[in-house]
Amino acid sequence: MSCCFAHLQTIHRLDDLVQPSMNSENKEKFDFSTVGAPVSEPHPVSEPHPLKEIPALEGSVAWEAPSNIALIKYWGKYGQQMPANPSISFSLKACVSQTKVHFKPQAGGGVQFSLSGQQNLGFQTRIEKFLNSVELRYPWLKEYALDIESTNSFPHSSGIASSASGFAALALCVEHIDQYVRLTAEQGRAAHHPEPTAYRADPRFLNRASHLARLGSGSACRSVYGGWVQWGMHPATPESRNEYAIAHQSAIHPVFTDYRDTILLIHKGVKQTGSTAGHKLMEGNPYADARYRQANERIPRLLSILASGDLTEFGLLVESEALTLHALMMASEPSFMLMMPNTLAAIREIQAFRKQNGVPVHYTLDAGANLHLLYPAQHETEVMSLINNSLMHYCENQAYICDSVGTGPRPINPFL
Ligand code: DP6
Repeated sequence: MSCCFAHLQTIHRLDDLVQPSMNSENKEKFDFSTVGAPVSEPHPVSEPHPLKEIPALEGSVAWEAPSNIALIKYWGKYGQQMPANPSISFSLKACVSQTKVHFKPQAGGGVQFSLSGQQNLGFQTRIEKFLNSVELRYPWLKEYALDIESTNSFPHSSGIASSASGFAALALCVEHIDQYVRLTAEQGRAAHHPEPTAYRADPRFLNRASHLARLGSGSACRSVYGGWVQWGMHPATPESRNEYAIAHQSAIHPVFTDYRDTILLIHKGVKQTGSTAGHKLMEGNPYADARYRQANERIPRLLSILASGDLTEFGLLVESEALTLHALMMASEPSFMLMMPNTLAAIREIQAFRKQNGVPVHYTLDAGANLHLLYPAQHETEVMSLINNSLMHYCENQAYICDSVGTGPRPINPFL
C-alpha cells in the first residue's frame, strides 16, 4: 500500500529530518468540591459495544494527527486516565504523526508496530496493552491482525513527545475501522463507506476518537481537533468532559487563530523522568490541591483572553503556567528538574527582548527543556531575528521548529 507522507518544510537546521467564558462573578460561583470527581454520565466508548457477527474484512485506513501544546497544563491524573484538572491547548500544524493501519482476519488478533519503517517493540508493547484495554468497545480487535505503520514529521530524538499525535492518529484509525466493520455487519455486505473526510466534521466520531486517544496518553485526546481545545470538565464550558476533549470553535480572537509557536530544541535527549511518572508524583505533592484549584480558576481567565485578544494577559498567564508546571516537578518527592541551563538563559533573553522592543513574544514549556515561543503572526520577522541573532545558539545543533496553530487531523487517503 503506498502512502504519500508529506515532508515537513518548516523544520530548520536538523540533519536528521525524518521522512515522509466566564467572568469573575461566575468564577466565584464555581464549586471546587467537584474538581477531580468522576463524571457520572457514561460515554459510549467506556461501555461494551457488542457485535453479533464480526465480518472477515481486510483493508487499510490512514490518518494524520497533530501534536499539541498546552497553555493550561494537565499535570496529575486519577482513575483511568482522568485529568486532575482541566487543560487548554492548541493543535500544531507542522508537528504531526501519520499512521496507517492495515487490518486482516486473524483469530486472536495481534499487533505489529513500526516507526519510520523500523519495528519498534517498546511502542508495540504499549500499543498492545492499550488496545487490549478497549476490546469490549472494539470486539473486532480479537479477530483482526493489525499492522500499524507510523511516522512523525519531527525527529524522534528531538525531545518533542510523539505520544499525543501518535495516539490521536491511531485512535482515529481504530474508530474509522470500527465504523466500517459495524456498517458491514449491519448491511450484511462490504459497506459502501462514507467519505472519510466527513468524519473530520462529525463531532461524535471525533469525541469517540478523543476518548479512545485519552486512554493511550492523556494529552492525545486534545489532538483529534484543530485550533484551541479543552480537555476536562469546567462549568465555564458546560459541554466539557473529563472523558474526552472538545474544540473551542467560537469566541477565538483572530490574533489567536494563526498564533505562532517556534520550538527551540534546547535538549533533544530522552527525559530523566517521563510524563506518566511525573503525573504519579502529583499524588504526594503538598501543593497538588492548590494547583488543581489554580488551574480551574485559570480556565475562564484564558477563555476570556482568547476572546478578547489581550496579549499581555495571555503572556502573564501562559508563562506562569509553564513555570508552575516545572515548580511542581521540583517540589515533588523525589524531585526532578527538566529545565536546562540554556532554557533559563534563553528565557532571560526573551524577557529582555520583550522589554526593549515591546514585541509580545512569550514562552511555554512542556515536560522538558525545550522552549515554545508563542507570538502573533504579524511579529514573525522580529521574533525570527531574535531567534537567529540570540536564541539559536542555546539550541542543540542550533535546531528549532517553526510551527503555528493547525487545523487538526485529516484522513490521508480513502484506503478502504
Ligand atoms: C506537561 O499526556 O504525556 O505535556 O497521560 O501519562 O500519557 P500521559 O501524560 P501526557 O502528559 C502531558 C503533560 C504536559 C502537559 C499537557 O500536555 O497538558
